[in-house]
Amino acid sequence: MINIRKAKKDKVEDLQELNNEVIIDNQKYDFDLDLGWAKSNQGNKYFIKLLNDPKICCLIAETNKIKVGYIVAAPKILAYRKSRLIEITNMGVRAKYRSMGIGTMLINECLKWAKLQGFQKAYVNSYLDNQMAIKFYKRSGFSEIDVSLEKNL
Ligand SMILES: CC(C)(COP(=O)(O)OP(=O)(O)OC[C@H]1O[C@@H](n2cnc3c(N)ncnc32)[C@H](O)[C@@H]1OP(=O)(O)O)[C@@H](O)C(=O)NCCC(=O)NCCS
Repeated sequence: MINIRKAKKDKVEDLQELNNEVIIDNQKYDFDLDLGWAKSNQGNKYFIKLLNDPKICCLIAETNKIKVGYIVAAPKILAYRKSRLIEITNMGVRAKYRSMGIGTMLINECLKWAKLQGFQKAYVNSYLDNQMAIKFYKRSGFSEIDVSLEKNL
């Protein structure tokens, strides 16, 4: 059975571990990713800060005490837009546990929380080549709104 719960404030290393897997997974879409970041001091501080911020939603999916997935969502302040936006800043399910509905459970729970908090739109950014994630978000009702571009200087 999968249990979705709020991430515990004193278990920052769970989030660092799960985020580390996402970064390693996503390196095929972005060679610029710092593979040591999630477990670094910087990563630790980043996750401690978000765990202590009541405006941020941070959920963990667990089965038999094994942490198998997580989602983080934070307000996205865009003063020039009318709607209150929540951004999914981070999400991942361990490779072995994918395609079992865990990602859907996490996103549904997170968006339920966001709606209760008065958010009107949810936003997420994905690598263009991460078709698995894009398909997943589209299935959850998201549609394409923008494209990010970058260049080497
Ligand atoms: C994107 C991601 C979070 C999705 O998580 P997930 O747990 O695999 O998601 P789900 O299982 O809910 O849905 C995935 C697929 O499984 C299928 N599925 C859902 N419930 C299922 C079930 N009970 N049994 C079998 N298949 C199921 C869905 O139909 C879906 O298929 P589709 O995308 O081909 O339509 C996961 O692939 C991941 O962690 N990717 C790597 C990290 C990453 O890229 N994160 C996003 C950064 S933007």
